[in-house]
Amino acid sequence: MKRFLALLLAAGASGMGHAADLEAGRVRAQQACAVCHGPLGIAAAPDAPNLAGQPAFYVASQLRAYRNGSRKHEVMAVISKTLSDDEINNLAAWFASIRIEAHAPR
Ligand code: HEC
Repeated sequence: MKRFLALLLAAGASGMGHAADLEAGRVRAQQACAVCHGPLGIAAAPDAPNLAGQPAFYVASQLRAYRNGSRKHEVMAVISKTLSDDEINNLAAWFASIRIEAHAPR
């Protein structure tokens, strides 16, 4: 009997003001995020969280929280302050568009 559970998440950028630009988000993420969060949002640094498949709403709200100081982290505070609202929405849409699978342990 198969004992795995597959979870496919392909969240769109629903609930956002206007259509986000996925390609712009992908390019920005390669430049500014991949070194820690990985090229496809699976973290490359041990202290960085995975962003692949996270809801766009969550990623965008956390970036705004770092930017306005309500969520505190030295590195993310600096990085988030370089991002415009459009860039945040594009990045959030990009990470949300990455499909991930979860499998229960054997
Ligand atoms: C130098 C490494 C580094 C880079 C570069 C970096 N991050 Fe992070 N990021 C982190 C770490 C470490 C955390 C965990 C911070 C914490 O504990 O709040 C984090 C947290 C986050 C979170 C919160 C995730 C969650 O699960 O709550 C988001 C969203 C995020 N980063 C987005 C980005 C984006 C978008 C970029 C590129 C524009 C980026 N980060 C670049 C290291 C990095």
